[in-house]
Amino acid sequence: MPSERLVAISDLHIGYAENRAIVDALRPGSPGDWLIVAGDVCEFAEDFEHTMRLLSERFTKVVWAPGNHELWTHPRDPSRLRGEARYRHLVEICRSLGVVTPEDPYPIWTGPGGPVVVAPLFVLYDYTFRMPGVTTVEAALALAHETGVVCTDEMFLHPDPYPSREAWCAARLKETERRLEERPDGLPTVLINHYPLVREPTLILRYPQFAIWCGTTQTADWHLRFQAAAVVYGHLHIPRTTWYDGVRFEEVSLGYPREWKPRKTPPGRLRQILPAP
Ligand SMILES: [Fe+2]
Ligand SMILES: [Fe+2]
Repeated sequence: MPSERLVAISDLHIGYAENRAIVDALRPGSPGDWLIVAGDVCEFAEDFEHTMRLLSERFTKVVWAPGNHELWTHPRDPSRLRGEARYRHLVEICRSLGVVTPEDPYPIWTGPGGPVVVAPLFVLYDYTFRMPGVTTVEAALALAHETGVVCTDEMFLHPDPYPSREAWCAARLKETERRLEERPDGLPTVLINHYPLVREPTLILRYPQFAIWCGTTQTADWHLRFQAAAVVYGHLHIPRTTWYDGVRFEEVSLGYPREWKPRKTPPGRLRQILPAP
């Protein structure tokens, strides 16, 4: 019997039939595996519940951090919930299935590579990953519009009741910092966030002006401050392993069929987070 592992994936985007088939085939490698889902499961609340139920029935524990796509109020989703209310609704769905969310006590992985605090985060973005010389949010958005590279979040990801996505991000940062500071003494962490906690991974984006929707400079030292054994993220759809300050960062996205089809590696492989591969 293989020993248990903490594994991760993100950006399932099950609106694509081919991605849905991949998710339908996902299985743990051993009965004790925990699964991290780092956001962008889908756009519709009903699909979200279906997918999280499926995964929660297969894995001993599932840990979820929200992506921007789940937070959209998509014109075709019967659920019209927006912003914080939508997020809270998704949290309730997860809780009904036993899936761990950023609102729950952080579970402790005691399997191989542990003990480690497994911390799903929701800190959003605040337009601070700006192009060189661009000093304000307004200028960054103007540049994005001029060049035709505008994230759909601008239409569908509503910050209600906050006045802006930046304000929502600021509130999330404050609350998340408090939670992480209160974690059990001396234990390292696995930090899970849909967006990279440091800016470097966004530097290879095809359209670097898109980085404003990909994180916040406020988390640049979190992997050191909170003793990360590993950081798990997605969103960029550039799956890879990189190291910053000696800490392993894992971009674990599946991504869209047009992105994964040309790759040599088979799609939908679960990335091993712990024990360290
Ligand atoms: Fe995605
Ligand atoms: Fe995303």
